[in-house]
Amino acid sequence: MKYFIGTDHAGFLVKPFVIEFLEKKGIEVEDLGTYSTESVDYPDFAHKVAKAVLDNEGSKGILICGTGIGMSLAANKHKGIRAALCHDAYTAEMARRHNNANILCFGERVVGKGVIESILNAWLNAKFEGGRHQRRVEKIDNF
Ligand code: RB5
Repeated sequence: MKYFIGTDHAGFLVKPFVIEFLEKKGIEVEDLGTYSTESVDYPDFAHKVAKAVLDNEGSKGILICGTGIGMSLAANKHKGIRAALCHDAYTAEMARRHNNANILCFGERVVGKGVIESILNAWLNAKFEGGRHQRRVEKIDNF
């Protein structure tokens, strides 16, 4: 399972923490930027990660900006992307179990490292339940 990660300047500082957390669990991570705290536009990184997830079957993404809102709005423009903005473990778990979310978004300015760890653990440990949720997830793209 490969993860693509992207941030803007407002999510840049916490990125090494997230990458290290995932790599310690044996997960391969590719960092698609940004690579400094210089001001950038979050949609550029949301689109990069969304395209990478769509091009690499079975992969997932993590997008971090100040609030996570802009990243989720931009990533969800891509058909097949289900980007979930999660600031607690419960929603992170349900985003996988019920929504089959393939990109996790959160805000560096919203949550601290302890909460980020709990979000990541909940996300990683949860599995999509399929069944009625599969039908609902399909209706997201087919309307
Ligand atoms: C950048 O200041 C901030 O607007 C951005 O990181 C993000 O929070 C947007 O949704």
